[in-house]
Amino acid sequence: MSIELKQVEKCFTDNSGNAIQAIDKVDLSIANGEFVALLGPSGCGKSTLINLIAGLDSVSTGEILFQGKPICNPGADRAVVFQEAALFPWLTVIENIKFAIQSGTRREKADKALYYINLVHLNKFKHAYPYQLSGGMKQRVAIARALATDSPVLLMDEPFAALDEQTRMMLQAELLRIWQYTKKTVVFVTHHIREAIYLAERIVLFSYRPARVIKEYSIGIPRPRVPDNFDVAQLEAEILAHLKIEMEKAVAEEIGEEYLLEAAASSSGSGDRMGSSI
Ligand SMILES: Nc1ncnc2c1ncn2[C@@H]1O[C@H](COP(=O)(O)OP(=O)(O)OP(=O)(O)O)[C@@H](O)[C@H]1O
Ligand SMILES: [Mg+2]
Repeated sequence: MSIELKQVEKCFTDNSGNAIQAIDKVDLSIANGEFVALLGPSGCGKSTLINLIAGLDSVSTGEILFQGKPICNPGADRAVVFQEAALFPWLTVIENIKFAIQSGTRREKADKALYYINLVHLNKFKHAYPYQLSGGMKQRVAIARALATDSPVLLMDEPFAALDEQTRMMLQAELLRIWQYTKKTVVFVTHHIREAIYLAERIVLFSYRPARVIKEYSIGIPRPRVPDNFDVAQLEAEILAHLKIEMEKAVAEEIGEEYLLEAAASSSGSGDRMGSSI
């Protein structure tokens, strides 16, 4: 197994000192070369999980192994595309990408960087600095940078969320093509069920916070998995039904908090006011 999570838990402390459990006893094994999509409601702990696998944060209990060894630090063997593009602001687009490429001569690095810049349609902006780019463009640079590294693992946290539909579809197809010929291990967080079905070999569904694995699907549907394929539509509906239950829990918790705040704010007011807000 490439990546193995064993009974992983992660707790944070909020500003008031209260413990927030983000991950609860997650067991997950990801094989070398596998493409796994992680789906779950907003705030459930998906980015936390990516950060733990990336070695940017450490588990509270349990362990995460990569090729049999505990993950303690970030490493060049695990490239990350964050939910929001993280580029070096003092480097241009091409310099940001070249910086991440480990091997090769200067010429080879430049050629490789240009190849991926073209792939994400940023040729005209190769000498621009991050502050000169839109959010979606920065995200495309971050994707190009991750793809240009020789790292065998790609950790992608909603990489296409900020992109327009056409760019998203183009990059989905490219990612799939790159995965098929490089056989990198891809861990891909998304909110789009259809995107997960289109890309992944396996989908892991997480509960509302703390994130627990509620269901896993191995997807045997032949590619390309077009949305009007009966099996794709059926799987999409099934996953949506599972996630709806979890999302309702999330909304209930948020509305509950709002209600408590409103109730507290109006507790000095009249009984009628309180009654109408209930
Ligand atoms: N550094 C931190 N300190 C305190 N709490 C944190 C920290 N990082 C994450 N959390 C909390 O952990 C929970 C999970 O957050 P996380 O960002 O992993 O969710 P997510 O599933 O990626 O959500 P989204 O889909 O909206 O990106 C949230 O309740 C969040 O507030
Ligand atoms: Mg997230």
